Amino acid sequence: MEAGGDGAHLADLVVFGGTGDLSMRKLLPALFHADRDGRLAPQTRVIALSRGALSDDDFRDKVRAGVRPGLYPDDADGWERFLERLHHVAVDVGDPGHDGWGSMRRLLAGRDEIDRVFYLASPPMTFGPFCRALDTAGLVTPRSRVVLEKPLGRDLAGAQQINAEVGAIFDEHRVFRIDHYLGKETVQNLLVLRFANAFLEPIWNSLWIDHVQITAAESVGTPGRRGYYDHAGALRDMVQNHLLQLLCMVAMEPPARNDRESIRDEKVKVLQSLRPITGGEASRFTVRGQYVAGEVDDEPVPGYLDEPDKTPPTEASRRVETFTAIRAEIKNWRWAGVPFYLRTGKRLPDRRSEIVVQFKDVPHSIFPGGGPNRLVLRLQPSEGIDLHIMAKEPGAGEIVLRPVPLKLSFADTFRARVPEAYERLLMDVLSGNPTLFMRRDEVEAAWRWIDPIIAAWEASEALPEHYMAGTTGPSAAHELLARSGRAWHEEDNA
Ligand code: BG6
Repeated sequence: MEAGGDGAHLADLVVFGGTGDLSMRKLLPALFHADRDGRLAPQTRVIALSRGALSDDDFRDKVRAGVRPGLYPDDADGWERFLERLHHVAVDVGDPGHDGWGSMRRLLAGRDEIDRVFYLASPPMTFGPFCRALDTAGLVTPRSRVVLEKPLGRDLAGAQQINAEVGAIFDEHRVFRIDHYLGKETVQNLLVLRFANAFLEPIWNSLWIDHVQITAAESVGTPGRRGYYDHAGALRDMVQNHLLQLLCMVAMEPPARNDRESIRDEKVKVLQSLRPITGGEASRFTVRGQYVAGEVDDEPVPGYLDEPDKTPPTEASRRVETFTAIRAEIKNWRWAGVPFYLRTGKRLPDRRSEIVVQFKDVPHSIFPGGGPNRLVLRLQPSEGIDLHIMAKEPGAGEIVLRPVPLKLSFADTFRARVPEAYERLLMDVLSGNPTLFMRRDEVEAAWRWIDPIIAAWEASEALPEHYMAGTTGPSAAHELLARSGRAWHEEDNA
């Protein structure tokens, strides 16, 4: 059902954990931006669920204080109109007899014919029980969808169980598993770059490409997140989802169509072609690190074990990786012999996510110096694409080569606001477009590759190698590439 401006879908968006951190930092600002751009239908509502006894007005006050600062300070009217869309219902999801279910039924009454989206911004073990509770309360209509935040389980068996529990209530086409990296502008642009331009595809293979690097570096640490992070670690938190999704986008075959299944079909084939890393191979092809005290942005910061938190560190804290680097291989014709290096970590010198495609060197050089071309897809900060080519330094003497980037900045070129990933994905959820969401078989294929790595790490006595906060990670991460004469792409060797 449509209402409002172009493509503005009328919906009720019900957010479990609606007063929590994700809602305040990402979901509500994204919805406000969409509202300003006229992409929410006038009668679209956002209903936050939590245990707290908040009235609609209390919740709006909380949002006013927590979300408003910095968002269009000049648009007070737009902001107040947005707040009118917000509601809050206190409900105890574990208690089917709780009054909150009655309040929900009353609030949603008469709106069964419009789209209803249940967004589960809560830990994965709650997904199955939440779906059952919604069903028992009679709130799941034929037009209902459910959005699951990552992580989806801690391993393949856990993910399969969650998928089965959710699948018992919602058909697969109504399950939206979110990976916010897929909503990032550069990731979308990667598809366009590859499949709407003719020049790259002929050289997008092992004949021309030496290797690929995918980095998601963060300068933040994990204060206050020990409860989650001790049991996740960088591999589950970032690689199983975000980094593998980026790898799929780089490596997949051209899909036949830009539709909901074709792209996901191609991505799942990539995941299934990843060479397993098992047992003793883990120590050759993977690296684990944990940060100790150091300096980030000239400020002293504590090590992982000393991060402020309500729970003290345990043995699990000592063993968890805040950094990982992996040499992955895709066993198919296009990518045979091309390593894909994945790297992510907390408390690195800066926040930088990028994909670097390094081409092979020229087959025969007639100039001294020189080096291979690199295509750098910058996800953040400053989204854009750089193609590093060899150029001649100006001068009348000898020819001296220097790599120079041809730079495309999306913000400068299009002079438009680059939307946050969540904004794009929320609009897709509201309109029912699942293309940028992970299908059940994709998530399970990703875990199938991750599980043996986790098993090898758990079987090992070794602890993660320490790295000082503010440095680029443990020395083993550099050796992982140095062994084959390669090096990570850093700002200073760009
Ligand atoms: C989340 C992880 O999925 O992604 C966080 O749970 C991480 O640990 C975050 O900080 C990074 O997202 P972005 O968009 O800031 O790179």
